[in-house]
Amino acid sequence: MPMNKRLVIGNWKMNPATSAEARRIAARTRRAVAGLARTDVVACPPFVYLPIVSSRRPALNFSLGAQSVSDKESRAYTGHVSADMLKDLGVEYVIAGHSEQRNLGDPDAVGAGRIMRIVEVGLKAVVCVGENTRDDNGAYLAGLKEQLKNSLLGLPRERAKNIIIAYEPVWAVGASQAMAPEQIYEMSIFIKKVFADIFGLEPAMKAKVLYGGSVNSRNAADIISIGKVDGLLVGRESVNLPGFVELLRAVDKID
Ligand code: PGA
Repeated sequence: MPMNKRLVIGNWKMNPATSAEARRIAARTRRAVAGLARTDVVACPPFVYLPIVSSRRPALNFSLGAQSVSDKESRAYTGHVSADMLKDLGVEYVIAGHSEQRNLGDPDAVGAGRIMRIVEVGLKAVVCVGENTRDDNGAYLAGLKEQLKNSLLGLPRERAKNIIIAYEPVWAVGASQAMAPEQIYEMSIFIKKVFADIFGLEPAMKAKVLYGGSVNSRNAADIISIGKVDGLLVGRESVNLPGFVELLRAVDKID
């Protein structure tokens, strides 16, 4: 088994409509995941389904994730969910700063405070970054660098191992086509370079960079093998079975 397993994170978004369906998707995903040799899978259901998808029994290659978390510690914050609460339910990964959240008026979703809350309690932060649009003169690269720096501001070097970067060009999220794998490769190198500027070379070599945005069972293998990313953040296809099961098998086959 390779030292570095691929990581596929399923972001269920606001799906499915019922808890019975959530139970079914979770069970089917777990069964598929147990047969994988070199892929770790994380399911991120909506908060209300976390107890359904969670299992106190350790499951092979399978972990629980959340789609968001409060940037506050406990006390009077109506409607918030704290990192401690998520940890108590068995959550190991938390998505921070998803573009859909940022676009809905939570510009601070990817703020360093929220990421700090996540890593402080020992969870892994899946930090989403990505440009809204592309331009010919490369200004989007400067913007991406800025996003990364702002997100990781003040984070101690020893916490770098709790950070996973999910590169999600906003124009490719919820779209009809993913970014070309060759471009993904360039972007993952750029992100590792910025990570190295912030935390140093060694943490950057170990850091996982994922790609997200219209990944499906047909394009996943190329994104991993040509794009050379460490894994995927999958939206729609993660609740579309058997598409997700096919996607996992395709990724797992890659050497
Ligand atoms: P998508 O979403 O795969 O449906 O484009 C990606 C995401 O939400 O992270």
